[in-house]
Amino acid sequence: MEKPRSPRPETPQAVLFDAYGTLFDVYSVGLMAEQLFAGHGNTLAVLWRDKQIEYTRLVTTSNDGAHYQPFWALTTAALRYACKRLKLSLSESAEQMLMNQYRHLSAFPENRAVLQALRARGIQTGILSNGDPQMLGIAVRSAGMEDLFDHVISVDAVRKYKTHPHAYALGEKATGLRARQIVFASANSWDALAATWFGFQTLWVNRQGLPFEELGTQPVRTGTTLNEVLEFFPAL
Ligand code: LAC
Repeated sequence: MEKPRSPRPETPQAVLFDAYGTLFDVYSVGLMAEQLFAGHGNTLAVLWRDKQIEYTRLVTTSNDGAHYQPFWALTTAALRYACKRLKLSLSESAEQMLMNQYRHLSAFPENRAVLQALRARGIQTGILSNGDPQMLGIAVRSAGMEDLFDHVISVDAVRKYKTHPHAYALGEKATGLRARQIVFASANSWDALAATWFGFQTLWVNRQGLPFEELGTQPVRTGTTLNEVLEFFPAL
């Protein structure tokens, strides 16, 4: 007789991470925005980020992706929009400074030890990000993390942004695993939600003490740093 399926989730064999806000700290961008536009830095940073993500959805869902642009271009467009909306005059040099800051972000301090611990256990590690390959390459190098990832996956390969399932499926393809065998960690609640819907075991890294999305699905785990990723792996 066939054994009933165990309700316990499988021990995952790979961990994939979102990049911006999850592995790389975007706080410095807000600081620079405040230096350039005193009193508006935080509002600008939030509006810029929201518009950037809105643009990814707009180009993914319209006309079968005919209006796709790489993440760098959408990020620049979002910055220009956010400044216009806030009636802030964005000079060419200010745009360059902010975009350059976006390119060279620092990594959150706990990343290295977490990634090393995963690799020591034989777990595959990777980035699965909306960022285009060039942006991700520079971010990984400038954070000195080249030796810590088996995969650096950009959705640019399918020209569809998260939360399109083809974007998440790149993680299965790269690792050779099924979604349920993969942990996906993101600090973005919408990303953690859609990744849960896709079938990944998910960690929402709630660094900012925000509420989770109100759509009836919860991530598998919630933490405040990447350290909680290690809880998916029973002590060896
Ligand atoms: C990324 C953005 C969504 O890295 O944070 O995919």
